[in-house]
Amino acid sequence: MSAVERLGVVGCGLMGSGIVEMAARAGVDVLVREIDAGAVEAGRARVGSSLDRAVKRGKLSAEDRDATWGRVAFTTDLGDFGDRQLVIEAIAENEQLKTEIFSTLDKVIAAPEAIFASNTSSIPIMKLGMATSRPERVIGIHFFNPVPVMPLVELVPSLLTADATKDSARAFVTGPLGKQVISSQDRAGFVVNALLIPYLLSAIRMFESGFASADDIDSGMVLGCSHPMGPLRLSDLIGLDTVKAVAESMYDEFKEPLYSSPPLLARMVDAGLLGKKSGRGFHDYR
Ligand code: CAA
Repeated sequence: MSAVERLGVVGCGLMGSGIVEMAARAGVDVLVREIDAGAVEAGRARVGSSLDRAVKRGKLSAEDRDATWGRVAFTTDLGDFGDRQLVIEAIAENEQLKTEIFSTLDKVIAAPEAIFASNTSSIPIMKLGMATSRPERVIGIHFFNPVPVMPLVELVPSLLTADATKDSARAFVTGPLGKQVISSQDRAGFVVNALLIPYLLSAIRMFESGFASADDIDSGMVLGCSHPMGPLRLSDLIGLDTVKAVAESMYDEFKEPLYSSPPLLARMVDAGLLGKKSGRGFHDYR
């Protein structure tokens, strides 16, 4: 396939907005779909504040920021995605909604060489592929948060993904986006979350049992192991709803206690304490 010039991104939350920003800054034309006008405005604000921050830090000129905006358009209608060469779905971890999106995109995009990708952390790529008539064109392209900062992307082919799809996806993320790639089998959690989520859940259990305070658990790993942030602050950054959803997918797949979600995590999600994005999680961001 020729180089991707027209990208579609479904979802402009924490991850989607980062993907939109990276691709548009790299010169790619990006069409973003959000669910309604309010979500479009929230997505636009997320991309805008990240671009403004890059200008303030001297990493981007004001002219380049304006040119970047010139490459981004928003829609609420997936029907507008007909000319997209690659679509990256980045909505919340909801298998039913994701399969509906893949099934719709399959009908909307006629070009046989188009690629359908998901930024899912844990939902099997095979299930998303089977929601389309061309699972050979479906692949996982998993970014890390914050997307503009973290150099890694996990590429996750399913059993039926074609080599040409893998090669094109790799060329896009390593070329224009400048990321480094590791490959993973299509198993819940892939490589990074399979290792990271049990660690985060252990920290939540430790806090839940009164073993130590949130600040001390986090300081322990920052000062004792040189991690850039402690596990509770990192859970807040990822979003506690996402941590819970990823843990549940991994528990469903492997039935291992180390992936089981602690009750406190469920209660916090029920309470809307989702971490940094909601203003409060294990720490207070207000
Ligand atoms: N967007 C753009 N740039 C950002 C940013 C954002 N949201 N957040 C931070 N940065 C940039 C800053 O501009 C700064 O760049 P310069 O030094 O070049 O000016 C740099 O990152 C450092 O930022 P800060 O000084 O503000 O803060 P920090 O030093 O505390 O770093 C951090 C913040 C980059 C988030 C760092 O703490 C970190 O790397 N944390 C770990 C993040 C991590 O593990 N992410 C993976 C999560 S798992 C996941 O995403 C997968 C999943 O499926 C759940």
